[in-house]
Amino acid sequence: MDFKTTKHDLEEAFTLIVNQIEEGSLPDVATANRFSRLAGMMHQLSDETWMEEAEDFSHLAGQFLNAVKKHDLESCVMLVESLQDAQSFCHRTFRE
Ligand code: HEM
Repeated sequence: MDFKTTKHDLEEAFTLIVNQIEEGSLPDVATANRFSRLAGMMHQLSDETWMEEAEDFSHLAGQFLNAVKKHDLESCVMLVESLQDAQSFCHRTFRE
């Protein structure tokens, strides 16, 4: 999968997740799985200037998936905030 498609799919999955969190509901496992897989793909497609951040992000996405599987809504909320912070940091720092 190319970078653009990966990013588009990542955005689609993350929007669903953020909406579910904002409604106060536990995100569904299928979407969390997809999101985690896409975060891993983004890491594979990253270039060396932001590869470490992409690895951290993929790790966080894996923790988020685990929290969903454990029905741990409180951890899900905190992890989604961390994912949003990581996204803003990266886009601010590495996007031209
Ligand atoms: C949920 C999290 C994220 C979403 C939904 C997201 C979404 C996007 C989208 C839609 C683009 C534009 C792609 C295009 O059409 O060209 C983009 C670009 C980019 N993102 Fe993200 N992103 C996320 C997280 C991250 C993270 C964590 C990093 C860094 C580790 C990152 C680094 C970048 C960079 C460097 C670009 C610009 C690439 C270029 O044009 O050369 N993103 N992102």
